[in-house]
Amino acid sequence: MLHLLVLILYVVGGTRAEDPYRFFTWNITYGDIYPLGIRQQGILINGQFPGPDIYSVTNDNIIINVFNNLPEPFLLSWSGVQQRKNSFQDGVYGTTCPIPPGQNFTYTMQMKDQIGSFYYFPSLAFHKAAGGFGAIRILSRPSIPVPFPEPDGDYTILIGDWYKANHKVLQSVLDSGKMLAFPDAVLINGNGGNNTQFTVEQGKTYRLRISNVGLRNSLNFRIQGHSMKLVEVEGTHTVQTMLSSLDVHVGQSYSVLVTADQPPQDYHIAVSTRFSSPVLTSTAVLHYSTSRTPASSPLPPAPEDVQWSLNQARSIRTNLTASGPRPNPQGSYHYGQINVTRTIRVGNTPGLLNRKQRYAVNGVSFVAADTPLKLADYFNIDGVFRVGSIPDSPPVSRDIRKDTAVVGADYRTFVEIVFENRENILQSWHLDGYSFFVVGMDAGSWTPDSKKQYNLQDAVFRSTTQVYPKSWTAIYVALDNVGMWNLRSEFWARQYLGQQFYLRVYTPVKSTRDEYLIPSNALLCGRAAGRS
Ligand SMILES: *[C@@H]1O[C@H](CO)[C@@H](O)[C@H](O)[C@H]1NC(C)=O
Ligand SMILES: *[C@@H]1O[C@H](CO)[C@@H](O)[C@H](O)[C@H]1NC(C)=O
Ligand SMILES: *[C@@H]1O[C@H](CO)[C@@H](O)[C@H](O)[C@H]1NC(C)=O
Ligand SMILES: *[C@@H]1O[C@H](CO)[C@@H](O)[C@H](O)[C@H]1NC(C)=O
Ligand SMILES: *[C@@H]1O[C@H](CO)[C@@H](O)[C@H](O)[C@H]1NC(C)=O
Repeated sequence: MLHLLVLILYVVGGTRAEDPYRFFTWNITYGDIYPLGIRQQGILINGQFPGPDIYSVTNDNIIINVFNNLPEPFLLSWSGVQQRKNSFQDGVYGTTCPIPPGQNFTYTMQMKDQIGSFYYFPSLAFHKAAGGFGAIRILSRPSIPVPFPEPDGDYTILIGDWYKANHKVLQSVLDSGKMLAFPDAVLINGNGGNNTQFTVEQGKTYRLRISNVGLRNSLNFRIQGHSMKLVEVEGTHTVQTMLSSLDVHVGQSYSVLVTADQPPQDYHIAVSTRFSSPVLTSTAVLHYSTSRTPASSPLPPAPEDVQWSLNQARSIRTNLTASGPRPNPQGSYHYGQINVTRTIRVGNTPGLLNRKQRYAVNGVSFVAADTPLKLADYFNIDGVFRVGSIPDSPPVSRDIRKDTAVVGADYRTFVEIVFENRENILQSWHLDGYSFFVVGMDAGSWTPDSKKQYNLQDAVFRSTTQVYPKSWTAIYVALDNVGMWNLRSEFWARQYLGQQFYLRVYTPVKSTRDEYLIPSNALLCGRAAGRS
């Protein structure tokens, strides 16, 4: 009977079974939220804060019709979803026109050759400080082995720092050229009240998908009396290692397995800011279903220094024999044997322009153009941006200038990017459209000699990496996805004040094998308005 049904579906579906579709309709509104017990204006999705989880399977087509019922333009972006051949759907202002108030836009994206834990967030203005974020999970197809037994439960844990101030107030502080004060609290799944509960049953094992959706702070995550087994980082199955605590830098996602193997009572989950003064801590409860004993103090201590964190980062490796999204093992792509065609050195600097605080990459502080760069490129509209408007390495001078910074790169080249952080605070960088190999990180200045210590075997493959204070991080990336891709600081105020640019991955061949046509429903704005 089942075989017959499968056969019918197969025939009806055409000559080959098509990848499934999943449809969502989302209503974006302002509404009251009380993450710290006091009323705040939040951005809700279908009335929820945080927004709903997106469940999907590798290669699923995800169709999300977003109705913007805010009184201002709005866009969602999908951190870690690669949007292959389709940067039009990326949902940042460099690729996609904002959804005007009262209108809607349907995102059409495919989770092509991806697995793992990611999140979405609102990309315009300072909306991210008001909510509008939620988790994305891409499960393996049933035929592809996952390198650990199916967990008994699977929890989303969105953690992030939070301000009591309204997001528009925060934005106006930045617009006036000042920096923001330190955040007020840490939220766990939208709650800063220390009472979010995760229920577990004695003896069972749970997957926790932890994403830092906050605005600036690295967070340490730990559970009283329990160790965690790291299994996944942004779509890569890792060598499974036991951790007593985990640093999650802003914008990053991790999966850990936790076994409820302790006496049945309640335990604290602690999340606290790292490398900061003061240290903000929030807690949640790991509740054993038969527990009658509340969690007791003291909280498990946070690890100490930056060196501990650097050591942990370096210890995170790809399990080369495990499957990823495809049947072939993750290690079958021998990135260490590919010749690097270009090294782009990326240096972050703060600076003042007209006595206002700005942040720059290689001396250039990004300003948005009047038209999304991808659309200007597509319609050949001159004068919106200039490829090469930002140098390939940090300049000697500390002067900064404003520009619509775009780095040009050729399709199918293999590029090294070195993030050089001469500042005394931690940086977190994210690249849209790609995952990259984190081949090295260390204290001090990067020199070509630093390549000798690169991990060319089993570096982790992800889309967001930290750079420690006065340190460097090197990544390798195979530029196999044509489009206009945002490379940005995940420190949201810095991103807002210019610490970002676009990487234009280009081929002169115009073919839908390399890049899709503009979606038929694309909103057109700026100088692209009225084009076809
Ligand atoms: C969205 O929510 C608002 C406020 O609850 C409501 O007025 C509106 O009708 C909703 N729109 C859709 C498309 O559901
Ligand atoms: C807006 O939603 C309608 C369905 O309600 C859909 O037909 C239309 O394509 C959507 N608009 C865009 C720009 O995606
Ligand atoms: C790596 O993956 C393989 C294949 O699934 C699995 O058997 C092995 O336990 C994993 N090793 C580690 C150290 O995670
Ligand atoms: C939550 O717990 C932490 C750690 O005990 C404490 O510092 C914080 O003030 C608590 N927050 C609230 C809202 O009670
Ligand atoms: C890399 O470069 C070396 C030296 O130029 C060359 O011998 C080798 O064939 C190249 N490897 C690949 C995979 O292109």
